[in-house]
Amino acid sequence: MLELKNVHAGYGKLKILRGIDMTVERGSIVALLGGNGTGKSTLLKTVSGLLPLMEGSMTFDGVDIGALKPHERMRLGLVQVTQSKEAYPAMTVEENLVLGAYTRNDRVGTLADLEKVYDFFPVLRERRKQLSGTLSGGEVQMLVIGRGLMANPKMLMLDEPSAALAPKVVLEIFANINKIAKSGVTILVVEQNVRMALILAQYGYIIRDGIIMMEGEAKKLISDPAVKESFLGGSVANTSKKLNA
Ligand SMILES: Nc1ncnc2c1ncn2[C@@H]1O[C@H](COP(=O)(O)OP(=O)(O)O)[C@@H](O)[C@H]1O
Ligand SMILES: [Mg+2]
Repeated sequence: MLELKNVHAGYGKLKILRGIDMTVERGSIVALLGGNGTGKSTLLKTVSGLLPLMEGSMTFDGVDIGALKPHERMRLGLVQVTQSKEAYPAMTVEENLVLGAYTRNDRVGTLADLEKVYDFFPVLRERRKQLSGTLSGGEVQMLVIGRGLMANPKMLMLDEPSAALAPKVVLEIFANINKIAKSGVTILVVEQNVRMALILAQYGYIIRDGIIMMEGEAKKLISDPAVKESFLGGSVANTSKKLNA
């Protein structure tokens, strides 16, 4: 679905990503992991077109997207939910969701997708008339994911969906991401919560200083001594059980 070859990108003249190769298979969940400031958000922004490609190539669903504008990539079904969980606080939940559909002009499909979002996140249906400024942190995270879904993505890129949320809420969000993936949306998820992300995903990439340090099947990464030592602690089996409950 997504293929990056030798991707270089950054800010102005400052190069952050230095030759990223990455593949996201259609229908899979892929985790992009790594410490703070290693280039994870930079990579997502480069794929969604918020940052220009300096060198290399990117194809999405067979289309060369390297020179396309962000809204053109969105229309192809490539949608990013950014790290800053911004909803418009003075607008209702439903108004915020409908904003996510701004690149579309199929009203019937948009309304059907609104119902789909409410089925994924019933709490948003309950609160649809409420101002989004009144939502909890977990509900705002659901709202921004829901807003991404309103663009009718083939692939959804999520930047740290678990950040700043209580463990119980994190589990709920990850279970929802799992359901969204099962509905046919390919997922690329950036996480600092490495254990949860590797339980959720089929494949993982670990980035450091703008370079992919390690990649592999999530099952293998999670039992890799180097990964364990750097990132993991606690019980994997227990979390896995809860995620699939
Ligand atoms: N707008 C920006 N201008 C200049 N440098 C930036 C900007 N945003 C991020 N950076 C730098 O790029 C590097 C990677 O940042 P980022 O991709 O946000 O890391 P991560 O998401 O992995 O925490 C960091 O060194 C950061 O300071
Ligand atoms: Mg980031």
